Amino acid sequence: MAPSLLSADFADLKGELDSLQAAGADLLHLDVMDAHFVPNLTFGPFICEAIRRLTPLPLDAHLMMTHPHRYVEAFAAAGVDGITIHVEATCDVGATLDRIGSLGCKRGLSLRPATDVGELLPFLDRVDLVLVMSVPPGFGGQSFDPAAVERIGVLRERRREMGGDWLISVDGGINDVTGRACRQAGADVLVSGSWLMKVDDRAAQTALLRG
Ligand code: DX5
Ligand code: ZN
Repeated sequence: MAPSLLSADFADLKGELDSLQAAGADLLHLDVMDAHFVPNLTFGPFICEAIRRLTPLPLDAHLMMTHPHRYVEAFAAAGVDGITIHVEATCDVGATLDRIGSLGCKRGLSLRPATDVGELLPFLDRVDLVLVMSVPPGFGGQSFDPAAVERIGVLRERRREMGGDWLISVDGGINDVTGRACRQAGADVLVSGSWLMKVDDRAAQTALLRG
């Protein structure tokens, strides 16, 4: 389980991080938005570095940025464990993934719901994680696109064919129902923001979805 901090109470960041750790979160998903690749604007390496000092949980920075290659060094220096870029970004995707790896971070590659899964194929031998977006990136609290379930299945089959060991993650509109469907389809990591932040018992729901 990878809670997204997008819906967390940043006025009580330490409290939120402790609560998520106590609830059994496996890693934290940090949504970085540049107001260009997506219309929304969140935070950058400076806040990631503060979060790094507040929790021992692994951090994965999901860079919804047009030019992620200009910032991977800064995010690595901030202490994140993984950096996920978008295949639609305006950069040399393969070279940026290689750079992320050489900085000692896990290499993640994501795609918008409207992007063909085939766009990922040239890069699947140089990733540690594929992040399937099940909502258009940019905002928390959107409804899950059921087409993501099929895409997870396609990626799982592709991974089996190529003997890969990358993880399949899914992000957007994940709750107890959609999360279970994604797990059944083969998702290894569930990113959940607004739903997990609002449930009464984060630990119980986290345990349920971890299975
Ligand atoms: C959307 C972000 C997601 C988002 C998930 O652009 O990438 O990580 O925070 O939030 P929910 O679970 O509310 O869809
Ligand atoms: Zn995200």
